Amino acid sequence: MLIRDVTPDDWPLIWPFLHRICAEGETFSYPTDMAEEQGRAYWLLDAPGRTVVAVEGGAVLGTAKMNPNQMGNAAHVSSASFMVDPAHSGQGVGRALCAEALRWAGEQGYRGMQFNAVVASNTPAVRLYTSLGFRVIGTVPEGFRHPRLGYVGLHIMYREL
Ligand SMILES: CC(C)(COP(=O)(O)OP(=O)(O)OC[C@H]1O[C@@H](n2cnc3c(N)ncnc32)[C@H](O)[C@@H]1OP(=O)(O)O)[C@@H](O)C(=O)NCCC(=O)NCCS
Repeated sequence: MLIRDVTPDDWPLIWPFLHRICAEGETFSYPTDMAEEQGRAYWLLDAPGRTVVAVEGGAVLGTAKMNPNQMGNAAHVSSASFMVDPAHSGQGVGRALCAEALRWAGEQGYRGMQFNAVVASNTPAVRLYTSLGFRVIGTVPEGFRHPRLGYVGLHIMYREL
């Protein structure tokens, strides 16, 4: 598996699983009926942000975007988002993408990384982030309306760099 910067040719391979993950509505606060152009605008970032793909043999296994979490005098804290094709989940792709985001953020001089909206019921994501040194610094009670579980907490997770 190789992690590299995204190119425009990657988008048609990203959109099917990004669309599916958003439509399922269990893990992201994006619109569940998001149009493809909106998805592209959300996901493919220009500098100072960055979008990467994890690829293997011509397939896109997953993708991550990373960016300053705020502007101005709060721009020294980064953020990132991850999506792994469900067909390739549980194989270390998410961990590799998160490690790359942390590496990039450190290289860029960010002082921390913050995840603004981690759905409390998203056990794979919470476990992955915790294992990489993030902690829950606050939870919006009932901040997310899960399609099966009803209202669940929405964590803010943070890690110093
Ligand atoms: C969350 C996500 C990025 C994890 O990616 P992944 O490639 O499946 O995860 P990995 O195989 O790299 O596993 C990394 C860690 O995640 C956790 N994890 C992964 N799958 C898990 C599962 N089914 N149950 C519990 N923990 C799980 C474990 O801590 C695992 O570490 P380990 O293998 O050392 O035990 C991926 O499931 C995904 O894209 N989900 C949908 C979108 C999403 O939730 N994005 C994050 C939003 S905050």
